[in-house]
Amino acid sequence: MNKLSVVLLSIIMATFSCSDTKVITEDSLFPVLPETPYAYNSLNLPVGTSINNNSFPEFEMINGEFVIKENIKMEVTPWGATLGRVLFYDKKLSLNSTVACGSCHHQEKAFADGLKVSTGFEGRVTERNSMGITNPILQNNLFWDSRSKTLHDLSLQPVQNHIEMGMENLDRLVEKLDNTDYYRPLFKKAFGSEEITPKNISSAMSQFVASITSNRAKFDQGQSKNFSNFTDLEKLGKDIFHSDRAQCSSCHGGNNFSALDGPFDAYGGGGTFGTNNNDLRGATNIGLDLVYKDNGLGNGKFKIPGLRNVALTGPYMHDGRFNTLEEVINHYSNGVKPHKHLDVKFTDGKGNVKHINFTTIEKKALIAFLNTLTDTEMTTNPKWSNPFKK
Ligand code: HEC
Ligand code: HEC
Repeated sequence: MNKLSVVLLSIIMATFSCSDTKVITEDSLFPVLPETPYAYNSLNLPVGTSINNNSFPEFEMINGEFVIKENIKMEVTPWGATLGRVLFYDKKLSLNSTVACGSCHHQEKAFADGLKVSTGFEGRVTERNSMGITNPILQNNLFWDSRSKTLHDLSLQPVQNHIEMGMENLDRLVEKLDNTDYYRPLFKKAFGSEEITPKNISSAMSQFVASITSNRAKFDQGQSKNFSNFTDLEKLGKDIFHSDRAQCSSCHGGNNFSALDGPFDAYGGGGTFGTNNNDLRGATNIGLDLVYKDNGLGNGKFKIPGLRNVALTGPYMHDGRFNTLEEVINHYSNGVKPHKHLDVKFTDGKGNVKHINFTTIEKKALIAFLNTLTDTEMTTNPKWSNPFKK
Protein backbone atom coordinates (compact mmCIF):
# COMPACT_ATOMS: atom_id res chain seq x y z
CA MET A 1 0.00 0.00 0.00
CA ASN A 2 1.46 3.38 -0.84
CA LYS A 3 1.34 6.40 1.41
CA LEU A 4 -1.58 7.85 -0.44
CA SER A 5 -3.73 4.79 0.04
CA VAL A 6 -2.87 4.74 3.72
CA VAL A 7 -3.94 8.34 4.02
CA LEU A 8 -7.08 7.58 2.05
CA LEU A 9 -7.78 4.51 4.11
CA SER A 10 -7.40 6.37 7.38
CA ILE A 11 -9.68 9.11 6.13
CA ILE A 12 -12.21 6.45 5.12
CA MET A 13 -11.90 4.76 8.48
CA ALA A 14 -12.18 8.02 10.35
CA THR A 15 -15.30 8.77 8.39
CA PHE A 16 -16.97 5.42 8.76
CA SER A 17 -16.05 4.31 12.22
CA CYS A 18 -18.09 6.33 14.62
CA SER A 19 -16.12 5.94 17.81
CA ASP A 20 -12.39 5.36 17.38
CA THR A 21 -10.07 6.79 14.77
CA LYS A 22 -7.48 4.32 13.55
CA VAL A 23 -3.96 5.26 14.48
CA ILE A 24 -1.24 3.88 12.24
CA THR A 25 0.99 1.78 14.44
CA GLU A 26 3.81 -0.65 13.66
CA ASP A 27 1.10 -3.27 13.35
CA SER A 28 -0.30 -1.59 10.30
CA LEU A 29 3.01 -1.87 8.45
CA PHE A 30 3.24 -4.73 6.03
CA PRO A 31 5.86 -5.97 3.58
CA VAL A 32 5.64 -5.09 -0.08
CA LEU A 33 7.40 -7.82 -2.05
CA PRO A 34 8.02 -8.42 -5.75
CA GLU A 35 5.84 -11.10 -7.35
CA THR A 36 8.90 -12.92 -8.66
CA PRO A 37 11.45 -13.06 -5.87
CA TYR A 38 14.89 -11.56 -6.34
CA ALA A 39 17.58 -14.04 -7.38
CA TYR A 40 19.14 -14.30 -3.92
CA ASN A 41 20.54 -17.66 -4.99
CA SER A 42 23.06 -16.07 -7.33
CA LEU A 43 25.61 -14.86 -4.84
CA ASN A 44 28.02 -12.08 -5.82
CA LEU A 45 31.23 -13.44 -4.38
CA PRO A 46 34.67 -11.92 -4.94
CA VAL A 47 37.04 -13.48 -7.49
CA GLY A 48 39.09 -16.21 -5.82
CA THR A 49 36.40 -17.11 -3.31
CA SER A 50 33.67 -19.66 -3.73
CA ILE A 51 31.26 -21.84 -1.91
CA ASN A 52 29.72 -25.06 -3.10
CA ASN A 53 26.34 -24.96 -4.83
CA ASN A 54 25.25 -21.79 -3.07
CA SER A 55 25.07 -23.73 0.13
CA PHE A 56 26.97 -23.08 3.27
CA PRO A 57 28.15 -25.84 5.54
CA GLU A 58 27.24 -26.28 9.15
CA PHE A 59 30.15 -26.82 11.49
CA GLU A 60 30.55 -28.10 14.95
CA MET A 61 33.52 -28.02 17.26
CA ILE A 62 34.73 -31.46 18.29
CA ASN A 63 37.82 -31.64 20.51
CA GLY A 64 38.80 -28.13 19.56
CA GLU A 65 38.50 -28.72 15.84
CA PHE A 66 35.91 -27.64 13.36
CA VAL A 67 34.17 -30.59 11.81
CA ILE A 68 31.82 -30.21 8.89
CA LYS A 69 28.48 -31.72 9.74
CA GLU A 70 27.86 -33.91 6.74
CA ASN A 71 24.54 -33.63 4.99
CA ILE A 72 23.56 -30.48 6.79
CA LYS A 73 23.94 -27.80 4.22
CA MET A 74 21.87 -24.76 3.96
CA GLU A 75 20.99 -23.42 0.59
CA VAL A 76 20.09 -19.86 -0.20
CA THR A 77 16.81 -19.93 -2.11
CA PRO A 78 14.89 -16.95 -3.54
CA TRP A 79 11.81 -17.47 -1.35
CA GLY A 80 13.81 -18.50 1.71
CA ALA A 81 15.83 -15.29 1.59
CA THR A 82 12.68 -13.26 0.78
CA LEU A 83 11.12 -14.50 4.00
CA GLY A 84 14.42 -13.75 5.71
CA ARG A 85 14.29 -10.19 4.41
CA VAL A 86 10.85 -9.70 5.94
CA LEU A 87 11.99 -11.17 9.26
CA PHE A 88 15.16 -9.05 9.24
CA TYR A 89 13.18 -5.81 8.99
CA ASP A 90 10.17 -6.82 11.07
CA LYS A 91 9.98 -5.13 14.47
CA LYS A 92 7.58 -7.85 15.58
CA LEU A 93 10.66 -9.95 16.24
CA SER A 94 11.33 -7.94 19.36
CA LEU A 95 9.33 -8.33 22.53
CA ASN A 96 7.58 -4.98 22.39
CA SER A 97 7.71 -4.68 18.58
CA THR A 98 10.09 -1.71 18.59
CA VAL A 99 13.37 -3.16 17.33
CA ALA A 100 14.22 -5.13 14.19
CA CYS A 101 17.57 -6.48 13.02
CA GLY A 102 17.42 -3.63 10.53
CA SER A 103 17.28 -1.08 13.38
CA CYS A 104 20.98 -1.66 14.06
CA HIS A 105 22.03 -2.90 10.63
CA HIS A 106 21.38 -0.26 7.95
CA GLN A 107 21.84 -1.23 4.31
CA GLU A 108 23.28 2.16 3.29
CA LYS A 109 25.99 1.72 5.94
CA ALA A 110 26.80 -1.80 4.73
CA PHE A 111 24.59 -2.96 7.62
CA ALA A 112 26.40 -1.16 10.42
CA ASP A 113 24.52 1.65 12.22
CA GLY A 114 26.99 4.51 12.47
CA LEU A 115 26.87 4.54 16.27
CA LYS A 116 29.63 3.86 18.78
CA VAL A 117 27.47 1.25 20.48
CA SER A 118 23.90 0.39 19.50
CA THR A 119 20.63 0.98 21.27
CA GLY A 120 18.32 -1.99 21.47
CA PHE A 121 15.21 -3.09 23.27
CA GLU A 122 13.75 -0.47 25.64
CA GLY A 123 16.56 1.91 24.80
CA ARG A 124 19.16 -0.29 26.46
CA VAL A 125 22.64 0.10 25.10
CA THR A 126 24.63 -2.86 23.76
CA GLU A 127 28.19 -3.09 24.95
CA ARG A 128 29.56 -3.37 21.47
CA ASN A 129 29.64 -1.63 18.14
CA SER A 130 27.15 -2.93 15.56
CA MET A 131 29.00 -4.83 12.87
CA GLY A 132 28.73 -4.28 9.17
CA ILE A 133 27.54 -7.30 7.23
CA THR A 134 29.30 -8.03 3.93
CA ASN A 135 30.03 -11.55 2.68
CA PRO A 136 29.39 -13.18 6.06
CA ILE A 137 29.04 -16.45 4.16
CA LEU A 138 32.82 -16.41 3.70
CA GLN A 139 33.47 -16.15 7.43
CA ASN A 140 33.40 -18.79 10.10
CA ASN A 141 33.76 -16.45 13.02
CA LEU A 142 30.85 -14.20 13.72
CA PHE A 143 30.39 -11.49 16.37
CA TRP A 144 33.23 -9.42 17.79
CA ASP A 145 34.28 -12.31 20.01
CA SER A 146 33.91 -14.87 17.21
CA ARG A 147 31.47 -16.75 19.42
CA SER A 148 29.27 -17.94 16.59
CA LYS A 149 30.55 -20.25 13.90
CA THR A 150 27.63 -20.36 11.56
CA LEU A 151 25.05 -17.96 10.31
CA HIS A 152 22.44 -20.49 11.20
CA ASP A 153 23.39 -20.48 14.82
CA LEU A 154 23.78 -16.74 14.85
CA SER A 155 20.47 -15.53 13.61
CA LEU A 156 18.35 -16.25 16.65
CA GLN A 157 20.91 -14.93 19.11
CA PRO A 158 20.09 -11.24 18.77
CA VAL A 159 16.39 -12.03 18.94
CA GLN A 160 16.90 -13.78 22.24
CA ASN A 161 19.52 -11.38 23.48
CA HIS A 162 17.88 -9.30 26.17
CA ILE A 163 19.44 -5.99 25.29
CA GLU A 164 19.13 -6.23 21.58
CA MET A 165 15.60 -7.44 21.03
CA GLY A 166 14.27 -8.75 24.30
CA MET A 167 12.55 -11.81 22.87
CA GLU A 168 13.57 -14.44 25.38
CA ASN A 169 11.06 -17.09 24.57
CA LEU A 170 11.08 -18.63 21.12
CA ASP A 171 7.63 -20.15 21.55
CA ARG A 172 6.32 -16.66 22.11
CA LEU A 173 8.00 -15.56 18.87
CA VAL A 174 6.49 -18.44 16.90
CA GLU A 175 3.08 -17.56 18.32
CA LYS A 176 3.51 -13.92 17.42
CA LEU A 177 4.47 -14.69 13.83
CA ASP A 178 1.66 -17.20 13.60
CA ASN A 179 -0.77 -14.41 14.48
CA THR A 180 0.61 -12.15 11.76
CA ASP A 181 -1.31 -12.64 8.53
CA TYR A 182 1.57 -12.27 6.05
CA TYR A 183 3.81 -14.97 7.51
CA ARG A 184 2.03 -18.25 6.82
CA PRO A 185 2.03 -17.83 3.01
CA LEU A 186 5.68 -16.78 3.12
CA PHE A 187 6.70 -19.85 5.15
CA LYS A 188 4.75 -21.97 2.70
CA LYS A 189 6.66 -20.50 -0.26
CA ALA A 190 9.99 -20.81 1.49
CA PHE A 191 9.64 -24.25 3.07
CA GLY A 192 6.62 -25.89 1.46
CA SER A 193 4.66 -25.79 4.69
CA GLU A 194 2.87 -23.05 6.57
CA GLU A 195 4.21 -24.32 9.86
CA ILE A 196 6.33 -21.76 11.67
CA THR A 197 9.22 -23.19 13.67
CA PRO A 198 12.31 -21.64 15.31
CA LYS A 199 14.46 -23.67 12.92
CA ASN A 200 12.71 -22.27 9.85
CA ILE A 201 12.81 -18.75 11.23
CA SER A 202 16.52 -19.14 11.75
CA SER A 203 17.07 -20.77 8.38
CA ALA A 204 15.24 -18.04 6.45
CA MET A 205 17.02 -15.26 8.30
CA SER A 206 20.38 -16.95 7.73
CA GLN A 207 19.64 -17.25 4.04
CA PHE A 208 18.93 -13.54 3.82
CA VAL A 209 22.05 -12.63 5.79
CA ALA A 210 24.12 -15.09 3.71
CA SER A 211 22.85 -13.50 0.51
CA ILE A 212 24.41 -10.14 1.49
CA THR A 213 27.39 -10.41 -0.81
CA SER A 214 29.66 -7.95 -2.52
CA ASN A 215 31.96 -8.16 -5.53
CA ARG A 216 31.44 -4.87 -7.34
CA ALA A 217 33.80 -2.53 -5.54
CA LYS A 218 36.47 -0.55 -7.41
CA PHE A 219 38.93 -3.15 -6.14
CA ASP A 220 36.97 -5.93 -7.89
CA GLN A 221 36.73 -3.95 -11.10
CA GLY A 222 40.50 -3.50 -11.02
CA GLN A 223 41.27 -7.18 -10.76
CA SER A 224 40.88 -8.02 -14.42
CA LYS A 225 42.84 -4.98 -15.61
CA ASN A 226 45.84 -5.03 -13.34
CA PHE A 227 44.33 -2.16 -11.28
CA SER A 228 44.73 0.33 -14.13
CA ASN A 229 41.54 1.92 -12.72
CA PHE A 230 43.40 2.77 -9.49
CA THR A 231 45.01 6.13 -8.79
CA ASP A 232 48.70 6.13 -7.84
CA LEU A 233 47.70 6.72 -4.22
CA GLU A 234 45.32 3.72 -4.24
CA LYS A 235 48.03 1.54 -5.81
CA LEU A 236 50.52 2.63 -3.16
CA GLY A 237 47.96 1.84 -0.46
CA LYS A 238 47.33 -1.60 -1.93
CA ASP A 239 51.08 -2.33 -1.92
CA ILE A 240 51.50 -1.18 1.67
CA PHE A 241 48.45 -3.19 2.76
CA HIS A 242 50.04 -6.34 1.35
CA SER A 243 53.61 -5.52 2.45
CA ASP A 244 55.70 -7.44 4.99
CA ARG A 245 56.15 -4.20 6.87
CA ALA A 246 52.47 -3.48 7.46
CA GLN A 247 51.22 -7.08 7.32
CA CYS A 248 47.58 -5.97 7.08
CA SER A 249 46.77 -8.75 4.60
CA SER A 250 48.22 -11.42 6.84
CA CYS A 251 45.19 -10.92 9.07
CA HIS A 252 42.67 -9.26 6.76
CA GLY A 253 43.43 -11.79 4.05
CA GLY A 254 42.36 -12.88 0.61
CA ASN A 255 39.89 -11.05 -1.57
CA ASN A 256 37.42 -10.83 1.27
CA PHE A 257 40.00 -9.14 3.52
CA SER A 258 38.87 -11.30 6.41
CA ALA A 259 40.33 -14.08 8.49
CA LEU A 260 39.47 -17.46 7.12
CA ASP A 261 41.08 -20.57 8.30
CA GLY A 262 40.94 -24.27 8.88
CA PRO A 263 38.29 -25.92 6.78
CA PHE A 264 37.35 -22.60 5.30
CA ASP A 265 40.48 -22.55 3.19
CA ALA A 266 38.46 -24.68 0.86
CA TYR A 267 36.11 -21.76 0.49
CA GLY A 268 38.81 -19.48 -0.75
CA GLY A 269 39.43 -17.15 2.14
CA GLY A 270 42.51 -15.52 3.48
CA GLY A 271 43.88 -18.78 4.75
CA THR A 272 45.73 -17.20 7.66
CA PHE A 273 45.19 -17.57 11.34
CA GLY A 274 46.48 -14.18 12.37
CA THR A 275 46.91 -15.22 15.94
CA ASN A 276 49.59 -16.22 18.39
CA ASN A 277 48.43 -19.74 18.82
CA ASN A 278 46.70 -20.70 15.63
CA ASP A 279 43.39 -19.90 17.21
CA LEU A 280 40.91 -21.46 14.85
CA ARG A 281 38.45 -18.69 15.28
CA GLY A 282 40.43 -15.92 13.62
CA ALA A 283 40.45 -13.63 16.62
CA THR A 284 43.49 -11.81 17.93
CA ASN A 285 44.77 -9.06 20.21
CA ILE A 286 45.90 -5.94 18.36
CA GLY A 287 47.09 -3.97 21.38
CA LEU A 288 44.22 -1.53 21.80
CA ASP A 289 44.55 -1.40 25.60
CA LEU A 290 47.01 -2.23 28.36
CA VAL A 291 44.05 -3.69 30.24
CA TYR A 292 40.90 -4.60 28.36
CA LYS A 293 37.54 -3.81 29.91
CA ASP A 294 35.93 -6.28 27.49
CA ASN A 295 38.20 -9.24 26.84
CA GLY A 296 36.36 -10.51 23.77
CA LEU A 297 37.08 -14.15 23.07
CA GLY A 298 39.52 -13.97 26.02
CA ASN A 299 42.86 -12.21 26.52
CA GLY A 300 41.68 -9.17 24.57
CA LYS A 301 41.21 -11.15 21.38
CA PHE A 302 38.61 -9.94 18.96
CA LYS A 303 37.41 -11.10 15.59
CA ILE A 304 39.53 -10.06 12.63
CA PRO A 305 36.77 -8.26 10.76
CA GLY A 306 36.34 -8.33 7.01
CA LEU A 307 37.26 -4.95 5.53
CA ARG A 308 34.88 -4.85 2.58
CA ASN A 309 32.79 -1.66 2.74
CA VAL A 310 34.83 -0.59 5.77
CA ALA A 311 34.64 3.07 4.71
CA LEU A 312 30.89 2.89 5.48
CA THR A 313 30.94 1.04 8.79
CA GLY A 314 32.50 3.43 11.30
CA PRO A 315 32.93 3.98 14.20
CA TYR A 316 35.52 1.23 14.34
CA MET A 317 36.66 -1.63 16.57
CA HIS A 318 34.56 -3.71 18.94
CA ASP A 319 33.74 -0.73 21.13
CA GLY A 320 33.53 1.89 18.40
CA ARG A 321 36.47 3.78 19.90
CA PHE A 322 37.77 5.17 16.61
CA ASN A 323 35.55 7.49 14.60
CA THR A 324 37.57 7.50 11.40
CA LEU A 325 39.82 5.25 9.36
CA GLU A 326 42.56 7.80 10.00
CA GLU A 327 42.37 7.02 13.71
CA VAL A 328 42.51 3.29 12.93
CA ILE A 329 45.63 3.74 10.81
CA ASN A 330 47.21 5.90 13.54
CA HIS A 331 46.67 3.01 15.92
CA TYR A 332 48.52 0.59 13.65
CA SER A 333 51.19 3.22 12.95
CA ASN A 334 52.27 3.96 16.50
CA GLY A 335 49.38 3.33 18.90
CA VAL A 336 49.78 -0.41 19.51
CA LYS A 337 50.14 -1.07 23.25
CA PRO A 338 52.07 -3.87 24.88
CA HIS A 339 49.99 -6.77 26.14
CA LYS A 340 50.86 -10.28 27.21
CA HIS A 341 48.67 -11.59 24.43
CA LEU A 342 49.56 -9.07 21.75
CA ASP A 343 49.71 -10.71 18.33
CA VAL A 344 53.33 -11.52 17.43
CA LYS A 345 52.97 -9.56 14.20
CA PHE A 346 53.22 -6.37 16.25
CA THR A 347 56.31 -7.39 18.21
CA ASP A 348 60.02 -7.63 17.52
CA GLY A 349 60.06 -11.29 18.50
CA LYS A 350 61.23 -10.48 22.03
CA GLY A 351 57.88 -9.23 23.18
CA ASN A 352 58.54 -5.53 22.56
CA VAL A 353 56.05 -3.58 20.49
CA LYS A 354 57.35 -2.75 17.03
CA HIS A 355 55.75 0.45 15.74
CA ILE A 356 55.38 0.74 11.97
CA ASN A 357 55.42 4.57 11.93
CA PHE A 358 53.70 5.26 8.62
CA THR A 359 54.45 8.55 6.88
CA THR A 360 51.60 10.96 6.21
CA ILE A 361 51.46 9.90 2.57
CA GLU A 362 51.46 6.21 3.50
CA LYS A 363 48.52 6.78 5.84
CA LYS A 364 46.61 8.61 3.10
CA ALA A 365 47.41 5.80 0.68
CA LEU A 366 46.12 3.09 3.02
CA ILE A 367 42.86 4.99 3.50
CA ALA A 368 42.53 5.52 -0.27
CA PHE A 369 42.99 1.78 -0.75
CA LEU A 370 40.41 0.91 1.93
CA ASN A 371 37.98 3.20 0.09
CA THR A 372 38.30 1.04 -3.04
CA LEU A 373 36.55 -1.76 -1.12
CA THR A 374 33.23 0.12 -1.07
CA ASP A 375 30.45 -1.48 -3.14
CA THR A 376 27.51 0.89 -3.55
CA GLU A 377 25.63 -1.71 -5.60
CA MET A 378 25.35 -3.74 -2.41
CA THR A 379 24.25 -0.80 -0.32
CA THR A 380 21.52 0.34 -2.75
CA ASN A 381 20.15 -2.87 -4.29
CA PRO A 382 16.44 -3.15 -3.34
CA LYS A 383 16.76 -6.88 -2.69
CA TRP A 384 18.38 -6.08 0.66
CA SER A 385 16.22 -3.08 1.50
CA ASN A 386 13.43 -2.67 4.03
CA PRO A 387 10.24 -4.10 2.47
CA PHE A 388 7.89 -2.61 5.07
CA LYS A 389 5.63 0.15 3.85
CA LYS A 390 2.75 1.96 5.40
C1 HEC B 1 20.33 -3.41 19.19
C2 HEC B 1 21.11 -3.50 18.01
C3 HEC B 1 21.14 -4.83 17.24
C4 HEC B 1 20.07 -5.57 16.81
C5 HEC B 1 18.61 -5.34 17.04
C6 HEC B 1 20.65 -6.66 16.02
N1 HEC B 1 22.00 -6.55 15.99
FE1 HEC B 1 23.26 -7.75 14.95
N2 HEC B 1 24.81 -6.90 15.91
C7 HEC B 1 24.72 -5.86 16.81
C8 HEC B 1 25.96 -5.75 17.55
C9 HEC B 1 26.25 -4.73 18.65
C10 HEC B 1 26.82 -6.78 17.06
C11 HEC B 1 28.16 -7.16 17.61
C12 HEC B 1 27.80 -7.95 18.87
C13 HEC B 1 28.91 -8.64 19.58
O1 HEC B 1 29.97 -8.82 19.02
O2 HEC B 1 28.71 -9.04 20.74
C14 HEC B 1 26.06 -7.47 16.01
C15 HEC B 1 26.55 -8.52 15.24
C16 HEC B 1 25.84 -9.12 14.20
C17 HEC B 1 26.40 -10.03 13.21
C18 HEC B 1 27.82 -10.50 13.12
C19 HEC B 1 28.58 -9.89 11.98
C20 HEC B 1 30.00 -10.40 11.90
O3 HEC B 1 30.67 -10.04 10.96
O4 HEC B 1 30.46 -11.14 12.78
C21 HEC B 1 25.36 -10.41 12.38
C22 HEC B 1 25.43 -11.32 11.15
C23 HEC B 1 24.16 -9.78 12.90
N3 HEC B 1 24.49 -8.98 13.99
C24 HEC B 1 22.90 -9.99 12.41
C25 HEC B 1 21.76 -9.61 13.10
C26 HEC B 1 20.44 -10.17 12.89
C27 HEC B 1 20.08 -11.26 11.88
C28 HEC B 1 19.60 -9.53 13.75
C29 HEC B 1 18.12 -9.76 13.99
C30 HEC B 1 17.77 -11.08 14.40
C31 HEC B 1 20.40 -8.56 14.49
N4 HEC B 1 21.71 -8.66 14.09
C32 HEC B 1 19.90 -7.66 15.43
C33 HEC B 1 23.64 -5.05 16.99
C34 HEC B 1 22.34 -5.46 16.74
C1 HEC C 1 47.38 -9.40 13.81
C2 HEC C 1 46.22 -9.27 12.98
C3 HEC C 1 45.94 -7.91 12.39
C4 HEC C 1 46.76 -7.11 11.62
C5 HEC C 1 48.21 -7.37 11.25
C6 HEC C 1 45.97 -5.99 11.22
N1 HEC C 1 44.70 -6.08 11.73
FE1 HEC C 1 43.21 -4.77 11.43
N2 HEC C 1 42.07 -5.72 12.82
C7 HEC C 1 42.42 -6.89 13.47
C8 HEC C 1 41.47 -7.14 14.54
C9 HEC C 1 41.49 -8.32 15.49
C10 HEC C 1 40.54 -6.07 14.52
C11 HEC C 1 39.37 -5.85 15.49
C12 HEC C 1 39.94 -5.47 16.86
C13 HEC C 1 38.91 -5.04 17.89
O1 HEC C 1 37.84 -4.56 17.56
O2 HEC C 1 39.21 -5.19 19.08
C14 HEC C 1 40.95 -5.21 13.41
C15 HEC C 1 40.27 -4.07 13.03
C16 HEC C 1 40.59 -3.31 11.91
C17 HEC C 1 39.77 -2.25 11.38
C18 HEC C 1 38.42 -1.80 11.93
C19 HEC C 1 37.32 -2.60 11.30
C20 HEC C 1 35.96 -2.39 11.91
O3 HEC C 1 34.99 -2.85 11.29
O4 HEC C 1 35.83 -1.80 12.99
C21 HEC C 1 40.42 -1.76 10.27
C22 HEC C 1 39.95 -0.64 9.35
C23 HEC C 1 41.66 -2.50 10.14
N3 HEC C 1 41.72 -3.42 11.16
C24 HEC C 1 42.62 -2.26 9.16
C25 HEC C 1 43.90 -2.80 9.23
C26 HEC C 1 45.03 -2.31 8.47
C27 HEC C 1 44.98 -1.18 7.46
C28 HEC C 1 46.11 -3.06 8.83
C29 HEC C 1 47.55 -2.89 8.42
C30 HEC C 1 48.14 -1.61 8.76
C31 HEC C 1 45.65 -4.02 9.83
N4 HEC C 1 44.30 -3.82 10.04
C32 HEC C 1 46.45 -4.97 10.41
C33 HEC C 1 43.53 -7.66 13.17
C34 HEC C 1 44.64 -7.23 12.46
